[in-house]
Amino acid sequence: MTPAVDEAAVDLGVEIAGTTFPTPVMTASGCAAAGRELAPFLDVARIGAVVTKSVLLDPRSGRATPRMVETPSGMLNSIGLQGPGIDAFLATDLPWLVQRGARAVVSIAGGSLGEYAELGRRVGVAPGVAAIEVNISCPNVEDRGLVFACDPSQAARAVAAVRRGVPRDVPVLAKLSPDVTDIVAVADAVVEAGASGLSLVNTTLGLAIDPETLRPVLGGGTGGLSGPAIRPLALRCVWQVHAAMPTVPIIGVGGIRTGFDALEFLAAGASAVQVGTVTFHDPSAPARVGEELRGELAVRGFTSPGQVVGVAHRSAQAPIDRPVPQGATL
Ligand SMILES: Cc1cc2nc3c(=O)[nH]c(=O)nc-3n(C[C@H](O)[C@H](O)[C@H](O)COP(=O)(O)O)c2cc1C
Repeated sequence: MTPAVDEAAVDLGVEIAGTTFPTPVMTASGCAAAGRELAPFLDVARIGAVVTKSVLLDPRSGRATPRMVETPSGMLNSIGLQGPGIDAFLATDLPWLVQRGARAVVSIAGGSLGEYAELGRRVGVAPGVAAIEVNISCPNVEDRGLVFACDPSQAARAVAAVRRGVPRDVPVLAKLSPDVTDIVAVADAVVEAGASGLSLVNTTLGLAIDPETLRPVLGGGTGGLSGPAIRPLALRCVWQVHAAMPTVPIIGVGGIRTGFDALEFLAAGASAVQVGTVTFHDPSAPARVGEELRGELAVRGFTSPGQVVGVAHRSAQAPIDRPVPQGATL
């Protein structure tokens, strides 16, 4: 058994594409609005980052109700990109986060390349933005409604449109969909287009049928599946992309509920993680998972999350670098 280190010896800080975060645990877009709802439960300045609900250029009311349904080990949602639009977001939501000392990772979503470009230009120069996350799981109104994220070249164009208008020191993260045959091909295309890192993954498309009506439960028909049901899927995506592109920073997201779940993502190749669905029943989760991760690292003799990133790719015989506590033998 590996000797443990003291939890106080663990420094949870991580660096992603030149930006530092105090812990590797962030909120996931769409699961904590713009952070204000979490304030009664945790200090937004002490979690890794608040990743805001994807913001569009214009206000939007979202899709038809009902828009959420519980499913085995997860949930389906068809919220759509409901939100106040970029003007209201920049005027009220972002300043609140900045004033609270939170790292604001601003998620943007567009229906066309022009919209992505304009959102990038506006958010990129807003004070206090730690990074931009480009949600490309949106239908492209200029291309038969095909989802940007499902086609490597369209995904790359959306990311390039954002990257062009954003100052070099603001990281641009591309958030990919798992609903593709070859996620490495999409990852490769968006990194070529200028993405500084990848958020893996968005929800996967699912369906639930109402036992009474025998019709889809959700007003929008299909919805995005999230929660522990998708954790192995998300983990597999992280694993595949890290194997193909080991130097590209990855933020793992999908079904994380505990510190050990987060550790799994680090071992598969993620440098940080986001927690989404779990916050609906435990709003303190982004802080709790960080503290649990500290314990999971300490008990295995690690003093920083970076020491674990990608270790699952090494052969079972390969030694794992970790500091040896005084007086202990590995
Ligand atoms: C209600 C809800 C709304 C979401 N809205 C967004 C969104 O606006 N933008 C986005 O990129 N992802 C959105 N997501 C996806 C999450 O950010 C995350 O990628 C996904 O839920 C998997 O993580 P989880 O299992 O921890 O929830 C949403 C998820 C849920 C459950």
